[in-house]
Amino acid sequence: MPVQIQPSRDSRYPAGPSFARELLSGGPLRRNSAEFMLQTARRFGDLNHYTVLGRHVYQLNHPDLIADFFLKDAPNHHRNLVMQRSRDVLGTGLLTSEEPFHMRQRRLAQPAFLRQRIAGYAEVISGKTVEMAERWTSGAVRDVHADMLELALRIVGKTLFDLDSLHGAGEADGVRAMASAVDSFMSFLPLAFVPFSQQIQRMPIPAMRRLRAGREYLDRLIYRMIAERRADPTDRGDLLSMLLSATDPEPESAGGRMTDRQLRDECVTIVLAGHETTANALSFALYLLAEHPETQEQLAAEAAGALGTRPPSAADYPRLPLATQVFAEAMRLFPPVWVTGRECATPYQVAGYEIPRGAAILAPQFAVHRDPRFFAEPEQFNPGRFTEVEKAARPRYSYFPFAGGSRQCIAEGLAWMEGTFVLAVLARDWQLAPAAGAGLGLKLRPAVSLRPAKGVWLRVERRCREP
Ligand code: HEM
Repeated sequence: MPVQIQPSRDSRYPAGPSFARELLSGGPLRRNSAEFMLQTARRFGDLNHYTVLGRHVYQLNHPDLIADFFLKDAPNHHRNLVMQRSRDVLGTGLLTSEEPFHMRQRRLAQPAFLRQRIAGYAEVISGKTVEMAERWTSGAVRDVHADMLELALRIVGKTLFDLDSLHGAGEADGVRAMASAVDSFMSFLPLAFVPFSQQIQRMPIPAMRRLRAGREYLDRLIYRMIAERRADPTDRGDLLSMLLSATDPEPESAGGRMTDRQLRDECVTIVLAGHETTANALSFALYLLAEHPETQEQLAAEAAGALGTRPPSAADYPRLPLATQVFAEAMRLFPPVWVTGRECATPYQVAGYEIPRGAAILAPQFAVHRDPRFFAEPEQFNPGRFTEVEKAARPRYSYFPFAGGSRQCIAEGLAWMEGTFVLAVLARDWQLAPAAGAGLGLKLRPAVSLRPAKGVWLRVERRCREP
């Protein structure tokens, strides 16, 4: 499928909407920014230009342009404004750092996400899922988004920080403490985009005091974990052990290890990057299963056939293809990272147009994943699009929920296994149906991640097992 570019009246730029006019007209931008980018791609072709508050924005909507963006043009990019401003909260971790520091940190963290290591996390994922669902009551209406947020946090807490042995505290205490700290911490992120955000954060008002307390609490928790591990460096098989003992093999870093501050920044980054994205993807998948009872029954049958009544282990992953396909299709329709952005550090050419220094460059997953050239009837839920044959027939970057290139999600393998196992276990043991009632339908809120605006409310019914 060739790249289609529409010229504009000003030959310096490709076609695109007037952002100000869109804002005033009550069009898609008023609904949400993901919808705006989708409609922009439909109306103005594969490369769009618009200005937002005087800043040039280039939107790339074709897999070939996106491949170049991730693979060839990356040296011309910086982290985008969102990431730059998030340094206030996240420090200089994998998400926010620039090269060459980023590559060094990535080399140190990578072993925790390798296939053999992830296999060891399977038991935790299955165990935590079963444990969570044991607390459900048959016939109840639940906000499964809240459940998935807690579950994803418990999984990250255990697999990456062995949280249940935190300071001798029971796991429930450790995770609950971390959940409430992460929650208040997350509230800092939108604030980072307001002018004078640093001054506002220091104001002696109750909301800011709460936010500061959450941030300080999370820092204390993480620094305490680090101190405990330094005192007793036994390998506990988790990410933190690995980061503590990792030595950079590259000669230029002179065998450097991470300081406490660097460890803290990576831990906060991984908790925040790993928990809401996964929880949102799972919540959207459960919503889609509730809306499509036939697929739900097929998935329940697949899981019962492959697992019987036992929890899945790593070897079961290839035996649950429909669960993986449902997870993939949920991330096509509702990608948790709905747009990937960079800032242009050095001017360069895209399809004959010069991208000026300081411009924002966007690759919107939400728009490309709904392009009818690559996904027939794109609004329809159809996990069959993700069989090996169907996947091989599409260009690589027509689907990129984990982005690509040197900044591709470091935990993609873990996320696929987590998504597959959680969906398989829940569909096997529970029947899900949309909850009737006003205001309980799905509404999207595209902020830093794409999340359900008012939760995902479902009726859950325990399945009867054959004796
Ligand atoms: C369905 C779940 C997930 C999705 C959709 C997702 C998506 C992404 C995307 C799109 C990026 C690239 C961002 C960019 O290019 O600016 C990214 C980066 C990252 N993700 Fe994930 N992620 C998921 C789960 C996780 C999990 C479970 C963890 C950790 C436990 C994690 C840790 C990270 C980290 C550390 C980075 C930064 C990598 C780097 O820049 O080197 N993610 N993720």
